[in-house]
Amino acid sequence: MNKVLVLDFGSQYTQLIARKVRELGVYSEIFPFDTPHFRIKKENPGAIILSGGPQSVYEDGAPLPDPAVFNLGIPVLGICYGLQLMAHLLGGKVVPSAKREYGFAGLRILDRRGLFKRIKDRSQVWMSHGDRVEKLPPGFILTARTMNTKVAAIEAGGPRFFGVQFHPEVIHTRQGQKILANFLFDQAGLKPGWSMKSFVANKTAEVRRVVGKEKVICGLSGGVDSLVTSLLVQRAVGKRLTCVFVDNGLLRKGQYEELMNEFRRKLSLRVVGVEASGLFLERLRGVVSPEQKRKTIGRTFIDIFEEEARRIGRVKFLAQGTIYPDVIESAPVRGPSATIKSHHNVGGLPRGLRFQLIEPLKELFKDEVRAVAEELGVDREFIAQHPFPGPGLAVRILGEVTRQRVAVLQEADRILLDEVRRAGLYHRLWQVFAVLLPVRSVGVMGDKRTYEQVVSLRLVQSVDGMTANWYAADPQFLERVSTRIVNEVEGVNRVVYDITTKPPATIEWE
Ligand code: XMP
Repeated sequence: MNKVLVLDFGSQYTQLIARKVRELGVYSEIFPFDTPHFRIKKENPGAIILSGGPQSVYEDGAPLPDPAVFNLGIPVLGICYGLQLMAHLLGGKVVPSAKREYGFAGLRILDRRGLFKRIKDRSQVWMSHGDRVEKLPPGFILTARTMNTKVAAIEAGGPRFFGVQFHPEVIHTRQGQKILANFLFDQAGLKPGWSMKSFVANKTAEVRRVVGKEKVICGLSGGVDSLVTSLLVQRAVGKRLTCVFVDNGLLRKGQYEELMNEFRRKLSLRVVGVEASGLFLERLRGVVSPEQKRKTIGRTFIDIFEEEARRIGRVKFLAQGTIYPDVIESAPVRGPSATIKSHHNVGGLPRGLRFQLIEPLKELFKDEVRAVAEELGVDREFIAQHPFPGPGLAVRILGEVTRQRVAVLQEADRILLDEVRRAGLYHRLWQVFAVLLPVRSVGVMGDKRTYEQVVSLRLVQSVDGMTANWYAADPQFLERVSTRIVNEVEGVNRVVYDITTKPPATIEWE
């Protein structure tokens, strides 16, 4: 009951809505826009939020919710496209605006009995829409306007419906969090109480219920997400969990041994180590397309898990550390967002997978996963480590992945990390890594012509990996790294610095 369901109509802000609700202490989950009403009812939410979306509600093929969502007796808040859906489906009228409204506006409040209790007049809101509500549906009143938008907010009192044309979830809407709080607490009667502690307790209970007496296998990648997944599942099912840590030959230098120690000694997980670098490299031979690399690696991991599962006997579940940004970027809900990359643990899963999946972190952002890790007693140093992609160095070696090229990249990467730590930069950055480019360039060393490989350095700052800024590193620092790489790594004669933000680039190069 004490949770909010967000129906996703394809807005780039959907995940922010869910997150802002959780920040207010109420658990929230995102569901596809067309989730049937009985399924919603089964979730028993205390409130429903209809997200924004890029389409127009009156167009053919526009994503529409099950109309029965308005008959469940559950308070609904529509945001932007969500507001327009409400107007369109409940008897009002939505039409295209003469001009798109995009950016800041001052909110003029007309009625303070509902959503706008204690909200200041003329406070700044963020608008981004091309359609407008021309006629309110019966039973609704107008509660706010802006200079350019006559219908900026509407409410109905019987079943409690609220619609806002602006985006309360984005930071540019100054009183957005207060407006959301009014909806959740005053109007929907929810109580704040969700925290990482209750998340752990609920997920543990859920995993225990789903798994029953069966066995689970979980792949550890060396990152925080898969570790937290394993620790949660271990809490739920104890010895019926076996973790598998695969040396795919695509890890950072020395990473396999260090991590194996950490898992076994400090965290007392049951971990089977599998040395499979030969198999991965063999399957990657001749593969240059990024998506094919990711899929090949995903497939190989699954083959290994299946083999280990056979050895253990009757394993029904595979637990994975998928987190929200992986889901949104690789397997978008039906709708307007495109596949950016197949994260090996999401989009790269083969058809006919023999396991049932358990993904307890699927709704969380990275910093939320880190908070769960802390709750589970993982030490700070491990938690603060930079993310490392499942396909490992393969997506940082452009072109073919060979043992020799992995070794070159590992060396360059080790030097970079070494210098980053020495300069005290590690904890100020989201990720730091070297990339090996598929080109060679001419150089001169000790009077001799060289024709060797190029390494690019990537240092980025980010809050959640969804967007990122390149780090304006000190030139002397860059020079130190460049000199060391060219001097110490055989086969590299040039180092370049990546100065692209995400978007338009991504953090990893493939
Ligand atoms: P991109 O490159 O898409 O990456 O901007 C965003 C964040 O996700 C990490 N990443 C991955 N993590 N499996 C993972 O577990 C993957 O396949 C994968 N691809 C990218 C990336 O390192 C960055 O932090």
